[in-house]
Amino acid sequence: MAFPQSFLDELTARCDIVDVVGSYVQLKRKGANLFGLCPFHSEKSGSFSVSPDKQIYYCFGCKKGGGVVNFIMEEENLTFPDAVRFLAKRAGMEVPEEEGDREAGRRRARLLQLNRDAAMFYHQLLWQADGQAVRDYLDRRQIRKATAVNFGMGASPDAWDTLLTAMTKKGYTKSELLTAGLAVQGKNGGLYDKFRNRLMLPVVDTRGDVVAFGSRVLDKSEPKYMNSSETPVYSKRRVLYGLNLAKKTKRPNIILCEGNLDIVTLHQAGFDNAVASMGTALTVEQTRLLSRFTKELVLCYDNDNAGKIATERALQILNNSEFSVKVLQLPQRRTESGALVKQDADDFIKLQGAAAFEQLLSGSEHGVEFRMAQIAGKYDLADDQARVAYSEEISGLLASLSSAVEREIYSVRAAEAAKIAPEAMKLEVQRAFKQQRAREKRAELRKDLNPAAQLQPKERTLRYENIRSARAEEGILRLLLLDEGLFPPTPPLEETDFSSPLLGRAFGLLWQAKEAGRPVTLAALTGTLSPEEMSHIAAVCQQPESTQNGGRAMADYIRVIREEGTPEDGRDPLLAATEKYKDKKGTGGKQHG
Ligand code: UTP
Ligand code: MN
Repeated sequence: MAFPQSFLDELTARCDIVDVVGSYVQLKRKGANLFGLCPFHSEKSGSFSVSPDKQIYYCFGCKKGGGVVNFIMEEENLTFPDAVRFLAKRAGMEVPEEEGDREAGRRRARLLQLNRDAAMFYHQLLWQADGQAVRDYLDRRQIRKATAVNFGMGASPDAWDTLLTAMTKKGYTKSELLTAGLAVQGKNGGLYDKFRNRLMLPVVDTRGDVVAFGSRVLDKSEPKYMNSSETPVYSKRRVLYGLNLAKKTKRPNIILCEGNLDIVTLHQAGFDNAVASMGTALTVEQTRLLSRFTKELVLCYDNDNAGKIATERALQILNNSEFSVKVLQLPQRRTESGALVKQDADDFIKLQGAAAFEQLLSGSEHGVEFRMAQIAGKYDLADDQARVAYSEEISGLLASLSSAVEREIYSVRAAEAAKIAPEAMKLEVQRAFKQQRAREKRAELRKDLNPAAQLQPKERTLRYENIRSARAEEGILRLLLLDEGLFPPTPPLEETDFSSPLLGRAFGLLWQAKEAGRPVTLAALTGTLSPEEMSHIAAVCQQPESTQNGGRAMADYIRVIREEGTPEDGRDPLLAATEKYKDKKGTGGKQHG
């Protein structure tokens, strides 16, 4: 874990934060800072700032921040040492590795290699006698051989230790098999294969690493799908099934489905831009990943109630993102007996064909239209009272659109649906829009009037106990970062003088850097503080602080910290002791006088 400090200093000096962040985010200069769209949450206005002077980034929206290494940790989903290695490679620097780190890196690499070997093993079995049952299943699902190869599909045989034996022979340990989630420990302590008698679907990330497995039973038994649990190389929030293939598509958008086999069928039918979130709700991490490859998303969830809810949730996550979002609605299918049944993309393509799906895709509606239809569906628009309620609800939705043109266009559409005059609907939307703006302004004002609340760290565990002291402590940190020359050679404060343990720790670390003659920058803290702690320190540092009269400001801050640091009765124990002494003398004096 510990890289030599001199190496880290050189690394952060060579990796200018504007260059590094600029290769991920489009930045525009505004005054001393640069701004852009935050890569860590969905937004349309740029709340993400980068300060070249302080070499920090900070997002006013999601409140994430830190130095250049923190940025890479967050953006590339890497640990601190891996982010350091990543940046070193970028800067063409050799990394002085410690034995322990090399070990951790090796373990991770071995885990990935184990996954890859397991995938190959399952894939080879698919074509052997043991793979017959899975091959039959693929036939039943009309999955062609070329498709199975393209997805690296495999077969896990109906036995307890096929994979265990094969991988142990290759030199992998039991503990590695457990960590990779490929083996499970039984009650008596023995291991057995986690995946048995299943169609294996390796999950490959965008770098091409096999990070996990999905799998499906061949019959109607439960659980239908079984996926790898979270491992050191797999976090399901950050992966999308099929994106390794879809990222190469020539189509202008990416289609998001629920199921793994929907993706397989879509790719086979020529829609090589489909990905699946493997049955979980879309996450912000996944949208970030997608934003590297496309500007347009098409949601194609199942057409049952659960699918509608998933669509609404995804639309909320994508609301005000830079994506253009569409919803592809699969029609419900009527069985011969006349009952309506749900359909997913896989069912639809098998019944209607690729051309019909292509048509649905090109006719897929804008996300707003989907939400409007959902609202319209709740009201009987023949009823006057219902039309009033509909207008109210729909104007709330339309008012939340940030584009005036969109508000106008969809207001007219909504008016048509409710058979009211477009002018009336536009007025209603305008009113709702003004109300929403006023509400936002009030909230902002409240925040400004209540700086104490604003000053609190976002993380509960970091909450300040003494706001007045903490504010002064923040000031001290800012001054130390801005101009260490203001400070005397010996520390004017001890870590323990700080009411906030985090601010105290940051001060201690910065002071160490100063004493060692190293650069006193936030980068000095990255290896020691957690990302949440760094985010807060970045928030503290992006606040304005002037070094004019810096000495005076420092003295004031120190005075406040000392005052607040004294016990409840307002008396410093040391001071109190002397006062007692004075007191006695004083009283004595009076008596004598
Ligand atoms: P569905 O139940 O909609 O299945 O689950 P499906 O994709 O249509 O599956 P087929 O067509 O019967 O093969 C959607 C997705 O949810 C996840 C899987 O990723 C699946 O593809 N899932 C589902 C699970 O993880 N576990 C389950 O038990 C079921
Ligand atoms: Mn299905």
